[in-house]
Amino acid sequence: MNIDRALIADVLADVEVGSEVTIGGWIRTVRASKGGFSFITLNDGSCMDCIQVVADKELGNYDDEISHLTAGCSLIVCGEVVESPGKGQRVELHGREVRVIGLADAEKYPIQPKRHTFEFLRTQAHLRARTNTFGAVARVRSAMAGLIHEYFQSRGFLYVHTPVITASDCEGAGELFRVSTLDLDALPRDDESNIDYAEDFFSRPTYLTVSGQLEAETYSCALGNVYTFGPTFRAENSNTPRHLAEFWMIEPEMAFCDLQGDADLAEDFLKNIFAGILNKCPADMEFFNKRIDNTVIETLTHIAESPFERITYTKAIELLEAADCKWQFPVSWGIDLQTEHERYLTEETFKKPVIITDYPSSIKPFYMRLSDDGKTVAAMDVLVPKIGEIIGGAQREERLDVLTERMEAQSMNVDDYWWYCDLRRYGTVPHAGFGLGFERTIQFATGMANIRDVIPYPRTPRSAEF
Ligand code: 4AD
Ligand code: MG
Repeated sequence: MNIDRALIADVLADVEVGSEVTIGGWIRTVRASKGGFSFITLNDGSCMDCIQVVADKELGNYDDEISHLTAGCSLIVCGEVVESPGKGQRVELHGREVRVIGLADAEKYPIQPKRHTFEFLRTQAHLRARTNTFGAVARVRSAMAGLIHEYFQSRGFLYVHTPVITASDCEGAGELFRVSTLDLDALPRDDESNIDYAEDFFSRPTYLTVSGQLEAETYSCALGNVYTFGPTFRAENSNTPRHLAEFWMIEPEMAFCDLQGDADLAEDFLKNIFAGILNKCPADMEFFNKRIDNTVIETLTHIAESPFERITYTKAIELLEAADCKWQFPVSWGIDLQTEHERYLTEETFKKPVIITDYPSSIKPFYMRLSDDGKTVAAMDVLVPKIGEIIGGAQREERLDVLTERMEAQSMNVDDYWWYCDLRRYGTVPHAGFGLGFERTIQFATGMANIRDVIPYPRTPRSAEF
């Protein structure tokens, strides 16, 4: 069955008065008037707005069914599009046939027509898409994914699918989820009573990937400009409004490109997708601006129009040291910037996105290109107000000897990365790329305060219910 139904978005926008349409959806509110009418607002997810359906008692199933309807019930309604006497909507629907498809027990249905807290709705993640906010988040998320693909596809970037299961730790932070079919209750041991991974599914320790970068680099060093867009996993025990254990990342990688080119792409890309979302989802963006954060539209418009600030890490440290602030994490050259520092720079100092480059090598992964000063790497982070880091990227180390030295210094097993090193053995080229956190992008675009509310089923420490 695929019922030939119109979308409520289309009916509200431009179906002519007098037309007969069939729609399907879920009841948001229902009100029976004394005169023997029911006013039902129906939503089908095609847009923020509900359509008002007027059902009168002449309908054969009025007394038995329609008059008992409650929020959450699903209907298929066939009716005539008529001018709406009420304010705010062009048209409503006079029901000729109101078919009740699924009832929803009014005593138990969790999504009642009132304001629920986001905390409560997280416990109802399977139903929260039926609310205005989560419907809007879902539409913006989908549109944003489309804009991102469009951006790269229209510029000749090749979409590469990198593996989800890997044997390498790209970021070297040890925040890996293990993938194994070994029986945890009866682990095979070798002679020295270490776990015998030869017995495991892949005959070696394997993990969920933290980043598709290393594999993306291999394709970039053959095909030029590529990008990945996929799920990534981090077993970091960070309970913050900006961290997930499972999140989506967009990772472009460009051959014959240096750090400047990388920063240029990051800036153009962000401007493009943020301007794009205002165009593509005007009603949902209005909603976020009105109900969630009344600065989002202005911020996104501003971003699209003005150049990002670019400073070095060393300069950033100077600014932070000079700031009249009581830092929770004290500032000195060599520290990893914390969210409080990032937010200060982008919200207080510059009031716009900031690209910070040339971080100390000691706080960055092995693959970043070592600069001539011997102590910084060609790294780049893009910081935005309210979120802090939204992009992390770098020019990659293309010199085999420098790369292996850095790997050894970080106690990595160089042999395990033989294939990655091969790129430097055979036709090495300067290349660069970055990773954009998709959920942080949606947070920034919508003003949603908590990252758990911009992905359908958030995975965080001690939470994987759905
Ligand atoms: O800075 P990160 O760790 O960079 C990388 O993984 C590189 N390999 C990317 C590359 O150069 N191809 O992560 C990139 C971005 C961060 O800036 C942040 O937006 C997001 O991924 N991110 C997270 N988002 C949600 N939850 C987490 N736990 C995240 N960790 C990183
Ligand atoms: Mg980073």
